[in-house]
Amino acid sequence: MNSQTLRDARKYEETAEKLIRDEGRPEFHLSTRVGWMNDPNGFSFYNGEYHLFYQYHPYDCHWGPMHWGHAVSGDLLRWRYLPVALAPDEPYDKDGCFSGSAVTLPDGRQLLMYTGVIQEPQQNGEVCEVQAQCLAIGDGVDYEKYEDNPVLDEHDLPEGASRFDFRDPKLWQTKDGTYRCVVGNCRTDGSGQILLFESEDAFHWRFKKVLLANNNRYGKMWECPDCFPLDGKQVILTSPQDMLPQGFEYHNGNGTLCLIGSYDEETDIFTEEANQSVDYGIDFYAPQTLLTPDGRRVMIGWMQNWDTCNMHRQTDEHKWFGQMSVPRELSIRDGRLYQQPVRELEQLRRNEVRYDNVIVDGTIQLEGVKGRKVDMEVEVAPEDEQSGYRRFAVRFAQNEDYQTSISYRPYEEVLKIDRKFSGSRRAIIHQRRSKVPSENGRIRLRLILDRFSVEVFVNDGRQVMTATIYTEQAADGISFFADGRVRMNVVKYELVADSATPLC
Ligand code: FRU
Repeated sequence: MNSQTLRDARKYEETAEKLIRDEGRPEFHLSTRVGWMNDPNGFSFYNGEYHLFYQYHPYDCHWGPMHWGHAVSGDLLRWRYLPVALAPDEPYDKDGCFSGSAVTLPDGRQLLMYTGVIQEPQQNGEVCEVQAQCLAIGDGVDYEKYEDNPVLDEHDLPEGASRFDFRDPKLWQTKDGTYRCVVGNCRTDGSGQILLFESEDAFHWRFKKVLLANNNRYGKMWECPDCFPLDGKQVILTSPQDMLPQGFEYHNGNGTLCLIGSYDEETDIFTEEANQSVDYGIDFYAPQTLLTPDGRRVMIGWMQNWDTCNMHRQTDEHKWFGQMSVPRELSIRDGRLYQQPVRELEQLRRNEVRYDNVIVDGTIQLEGVKGRKVDMEVEVAPEDEQSGYRRFAVRFAQNEDYQTSISYRPYEEVLKIDRKFSGSRRAIIHQRRSKVPSENGRIRLRLILDRFSVEVFVNDGRQVMTATIYTEQAADGISFFADGRVRMNVVKYELVADSATPLC
């Protein structure tokens, strides 16, 4: 039986979404149906379709009592909204259904595991959120909360683990048919950790061990953990709050961390070998992965950062806030995490425009190269390896007033994304730099533009820089700049997500 809270939300979103024009949204990135969106949740393949749930507050473009929004897709790019799946309507989740994940049960039902939140007044007058893990079972549209919720609460926590920061379960089924889940947690000393739990049937859970402790190395609380094998290694993703910068690798605030190592299945010991940022741009957080039916590990993240929510969009014309990144195929190469947009994106390509061996010296524009829904590959090398070049830039979402750019300085080995001139009137972060090792000045960039965002995949996905841009859509110019002589190849496609696109 659906609660009144859920029915109200379902009714509201159906009416309110009509106020949003299709052209006022991204074309192939999932945006919230209406109101507010944050983390991806329950990213899964169920009953022949991809399901993506998300942290959702339908009634406002700001964060509020969390629901789970819901959308499905056959190709990870063209999404269809389903009715909101979860609402905060039980005593154990009355203040929010926070992030979580999904698996398919042996009997064919879909199981969602999420964090139920209740606010608890403390003796000192403060109000703190108590967080516990809950289940809901459904058929891909309607979900019923489990009668014995919560299934993991403060009584299941090891010594020193805080019950106020205990959230974002990611669960999976192991080869022997049993279940595991990792949950983000904070020690009472403020340092993040990932807890591992196990279950025979996905309903009765027990604590297994602290899988990994932050020891105050990367930020504080670790949110949204994910843990999976990839190309012979084990990968742990997590999103730390309150990071301090480390060179060009990690930046201030909330970030995304990737740990690569090995995993002993007998002892559940993860041995770390390498660490890196997941995204080196401005707007990417709380990613979650799934395994596709054809065996690809695909990651999707919230294309936003917490510190600048709602801050550089100018008008109230938009009745939505929050979009997801393009889903990205993951692989490990040379001990690093590589990301590529899902190959399904190639099906949306239209109207190829190609230029080979263009010499850039100063600023140029190329006939047919413009747009705000674009997939563009740019390959650059110095015309003369001896003399090299000092700087190369691609400028986009450009007109007389505005532009955003990605620029590379080979001598410094620094790639910079800069949205300072994108039309924002707020004093927020508009630039980010990342270290990109120079291969004699050669660099390959793949830019994915979708009305309100840019994702730059660098050197075949060795690094990615993502940023939202709310520049008016009429600013659709693209130009290239070089200080020094550069030889450049460009292939550019328009991206169109219409229903004529064949499904892969
Ligand atoms: C991460 C996060 C999660 C939490 C959710 C609440 O962005 O803070 O830890 O479950 O958002 O909306």
